[in-house]
Amino acid sequence: MFKVHCLNSISNFGLKELNTRYSLTDSLVDADAFLVRSASLHEQEFNPQLQCIARAGAGVNNIPLERCSEKGIVVFNTPGANANGVKELVLAGLLLSCRDLVGGIEWCKKNANDEAIAKTVEKEKKNFSGIEIQGKTLGVIGLGAIGAKVANAATSLAMKVIGYDPYISIHAAWSLSSKVEHATEIQTLLEKADFITLHLPLTNDTKEMINESLFNIMKHGTVLLNFSRDTLVNEIDLKNAIEQGIIKKYITDFPNPTVMHLDNTLVLPHLGASTEEAEDNCAQMAVLEMMEYLEHGNIKNS
Ligand code: MLT
Repeated sequence: MFKVHCLNSISNFGLKELNTRYSLTDSLVDADAFLVRSASLHEQEFNPQLQCIARAGAGVNNIPLERCSEKGIVVFNTPGANANGVKELVLAGLLLSCRDLVGGIEWCKKNANDEAIAKTVEKEKKNFSGIEIQGKTLGVIGLGAIGAKVANAATSLAMKVIGYDPYISIHAAWSLSSKVEHATEIQTLLEKADFITLHLPLTNDTKEMINESLFNIMKHGTVLLNFSRDTLVNEIDLKNAIEQGIIKKYITDFPNPTVMHLDNTLVLPHLGASTEEAEDNCAQMAVLEMMEYLEHGNIKNS
């Protein structure tokens, strides 16, 4: 009998998938496996019995990988399983950066009891005017499962798309459309893009990769979208770039005290993978990876 401990809500882990050879344990001490979403395990002690940790999500920065590898604990993630959910939120962010939906909706709510609202609308709507994305250039940094989906979707919205990935060639990227241009140097993308979206894992190499030297290459008035990890961007350099007008808008899935109070930021509370479909996909993939390993010693997505 394998004992499994869930560090996040078990309803999200499709535990009906587990067969009778498994039982859930509340205790961390006797678990053979952990299932985790975003809870941090950096301060967590690991018991000698622990064989694997399956993370329902793409990023593994909430898991102490070095310590796991020293102790022989296998770590799994679920690449691609939530890519569609994240892609759809990035597209929403892209559109939100061009049209003042938030301001327009708030204005309508505020004036909900005004019987003459139809007349006021005509005067007010000039305050909510926006721009279109068609024909604009989107730079996609990172072409894994999520970045490739965002890039492809943007070409179907008639955007010009340039992709850059420091780790894989454009040919190796996940089923990328031939309409996506390949930048071999990040500078090319930064110089051309009107919108830049980040789709990189957080590692020692990518931490604060978006900093003053890269902001200085970007066009004045660039829109930056960050639905990957907060600390890919140096927050002080970002604040300066916003104040200098290099970054016209910062759309992010990570509340950050240094910039979130600024007018030109739109901040969400890490909702990228928070769809029913993405949560089910990730949970099921994580559970299957764990079972394959515990029962057969097979390692996939480690
Ligand atoms: C991911 O790394 O894929 C996301 O952080 C998943 C999540 O929001 O749980």
